[in-house]
This record gives sequence, structure tokens and C-alpha cells, in this order.
Amino acid sequence: MNIAIVGSGYVGLVSGVCFAHLGHDVICVDIDKEKVKNLRAGKVPIYEPGLEVLLKKYLKNKKLTFTTSIKEATKKSIAIFIAVGTPSKKNGDADLTYVENVAREIALCMDDYKLIIEKSTVPAETGKKIERTIKLNLQKKYRKGAKNSIDFDVASNPEFLREGSAIEDFMNPDRVVIGVESKKAEKLLREIYRPLKPKMVVTNINSAELIKHASNSFLAAKISFINAVSQICDHLGADIEMVAEGMGYDKRIGRAFLNAGIGYGGSCFPKDVDAFIRLSEKSGYNFRMLKEVRAVNEEQKENFLKLIEEKLWIVKGKTIGVLGLAFKSNTDDMRNAPSIDIINALKLEGAKIKAYDPEGMPNAKKVFKGLTYCKDPYALAKGCDCLLLLTEWDEFAKLDFKKIKAAMRQAILFDGRNFYHDQDMEALGFEYYGIGRSLTERKG
Ligand code: UGA
Repeated sequence: MNIAIVGSGYVGLVSGVCFAHLGHDVICVDIDKEKVKNLRAGKVPIYEPGLEVLLKKYLKNKKLTFTTSIKEATKKSIAIFIAVGTPSKKNGDADLTYVENVAREIALCMDDYKLIIEKSTVPAETGKKIERTIKLNLQKKYRKGAKNSIDFDVASNPEFLREGSAIEDFMNPDRVVIGVESKKAEKLLREIYRPLKPKMVVTNINSAELIKHASNSFLAAKISFINAVSQICDHLGADIEMVAEGMGYDKRIGRAFLNAGIGYGGSCFPKDVDAFIRLSEKSGYNFRMLKEVRAVNEEQKENFLKLIEEKLWIVKGKTIGVLGLAFKSNTDDMRNAPSIDIINALKLEGAKIKAYDPEGMPNAKKVFKGLTYCKDPYALAKGCDCLLLLTEWDEFAKLDFKKIKAAMRQAILFDGRNFYHDQDMEALGFEYYGIGRSLTERKG
């Protein structure tokens, strides 16, 4: 099928490459000329495992092309996915300016049936607004003497990809959700995803939009729940890792997203939780539970800072080494990374910060001023009064901690992801502090 994807950001680019992999002819659009030039040359602007290899493969056999022209993409395609950014406004609402602009442009240049599919995460009823925008603009065109009005459908097809494992998630989805209002739209979307043989959830547009909001918010709630429990563990001499394991075996609960740590970050959960709270308010419901999810997430960083302040005693003048900057492993994405608030707070208190991240440093340089970036964890450890593990990269599991310890001024490790085994670290001679791993014991 001929497919267009408007917006070659994270979601758009991964979806475009993967649709080409499924055998479709895909044309991706972006307004950024430089980005399009680089993508045509096979250069991926983000770090995502496996993406560049597939991009190059489908550029070569021309299953995948890039353009800056919505008109060109619209003419060539029957199905057009909108995957442009929906940033948060100051009040938490999603800013849908780009979505509206794209819908208008598609309407003005389409001259036969199109299925327009929203893929960006958007508040419920956006599909209806896209439909209205297209109708109004078609009417305008119609008045100007173009041919008879044109048939079209709008659909919703939220994505559930995680950064760092996006290709894998696309190819093996737990489910594909489609919100449709016509048989024709349903048939086309089923055809697009047919090669994956996925579990399809077919519903109306508003329900599909809500499934995305509710899913992300529920996952965020799971994380905040376990983080709240971790605070109790700290004071009761319990271990959150064992609590999560014991809970996780219950099939009704599941172990996934029960990793306690320094809270969730990224471009999705913080923004989507805000947007769902706002959406609920507008529907007349005060979603208090989600407000608490957000508050617990913020507290988690503050509690980690308190722990550092307590154990390091004097922060001013100390050298702190930070292992991991990106909001999670396998990505270079710094958006809403917990490292931002933690590092900024420590800098404000007068600490000197050294940092290392396998992929995140180029983006981190745009976020922080006055950090010393190191070429590897050993250079990082040199002269440090403590280390903070903020992102759980695989390569941090294989470090030679004897060498690290020898390079440090004092061997204190604050593990913001419970990545290391506490007793192993203590056996290596580190003073080790994780999240919810029993403060009582440490005090003793
Ligand atoms: C999330 C969802 O998982 C995807 O299904 C969704 O498609 C995507 O948002 C989106 O809306 O675009 P993503 O933000 O890429 O994906 O990453 P996650 O793996 O969900 O992690 C989000 C944050 O939660 C990270 O900061 C991670 O470190 C944190 N996290 C995750 C925890 O603190 N504990 C956990 O147990 C799991």
C-alpha cells in the first residue's frame, strides 16, 4: 500500500521505516530540510537500536523516500499518518497547532479518497476536530471551483512504542488499536497491519484516543505506586526489589513497570499524565489519583537528593560522578530526564559534576552548562567523592569496580535504578545506597 507519514520525528520515522519493512511503499514528510537531506543520506538523527540499518535498506530499494512536501506525499498515498509533535502548553494541554496545520494542508491538496490517521498522542476528540478541519477546507476548495467534494475518512491508531526498543515493539505489538468510523477505513488499516498478524482492537475514534491516554497513565501509576512503596521499605528494613518480585508473580499484577527508581521521565509519560489530567478536568472529572502519580514522581527525585545530601554530608565542593544522563537506557533522549533536576540541584549546592553516558552526551551538552564530560566510566571515577547511577545502560553492568574504587576519593555509590546488587557492591568495599533497600540497615 502507498503510505505517507507526516512528521519524521521519533514516532513518524520508526513507523515509516517499519511500514516499509512490512512491504509498503512509504513516503515520509518533514518540514526540516536539513533533516530530510540527512535522512535521504541514511543518517538517523536519534539513537535507536536497529533503526539506521533498516533505514538504509529501504532507502536503497526505494520502498522508503523522504520529502518536505505534504502535497507530494498526499498525491502518492492513500493512507496518511499524522505523526507530528504535540508538545505540552504551560497549562498541561497538548498543543495541537501542528496537527491542525497538517490536516488543513492535506485537505487543500487531496484530490481523491484519503484515509487520514492520527498517530501522535492526542486528547480525545482530536479525530473529530481533524475531520472538521478537513471538511471545512475541502468546502473552501470546492467553492473555488475544484471538482466535486472528495470522500475521506479519519482514524486513530495510537502507537505504543518504547524508545530504545521501538523496532522490536513495532514488529511484535501486544495489540494494534484502531479507532474507525467506516468499514472502508477499518479494511485499509487491517490491510496495513496484516503482515504482523496482530491482536486488533477495533473501536471508535474517541475510545482509541482514550486507550492511549489510559495506557500511558496506568503505566506511570504503576511506577509511582512502586516508588511510593519504596519509601516505606526504606524505613521498615524491607527490600523493594523482593517486594516487586513477590507482587510480580501474580499474573493480575505482573512484574513489568514495577522498577523503583528516580521516577519516570521522557517525552511521553510526564506530558501524557499532564494532558490526561487536563482532559479529565475539561470533562468535569478531577482525576486526583493521577495528580498523586505526578506528585510521587517528583518526590522521588527529591528523596534521592535528600539521601545524597545526608550521606555525602557536605555537598559544596564535592566532586560527583554521574553514570548515565539519558531518561532511560538505549536512547540518547534527554527530554524530561530525571538527571536534569538531580544534577541541577547538586550544582546549585556547589558540587562539581562529572558525567558519562554512552549515547546521551551530545544532547546533554545542550541541556547542561559547566559539566565535565568524560570519555568512559573510569575517567569519570577519577577523584570523585561519590558516584550516581542514573541510567541503567548494559555497559554499566560490566564495569571493573575495583578499578573504579581505586580511582575515587571515597567509594560511595548512589544507585538511582537499583541496578546493582547491594551486597555485591558492599563486598567490593562500596558504601552502597539504592532506592527502597532499607535505610534502617544503613543507619545501623
Ligand atoms: C512510553 C510507553 O511505554 C510506550 O508504550 C509509549 O508508546 C510511549 O511512552 C509513547 O507514548 O510514545 P517510553 O517513554 O519510550 O515509552 O519509555 P518507557 O520504557 O515506558 O519508560 C518511561 C520512563 O519510565 C523512563 O524514564 C523509565 O526509566 C521509567 N520507568 C519505566 C521506571 O522508572 N520504572 C519502570 O519499571 C519502568
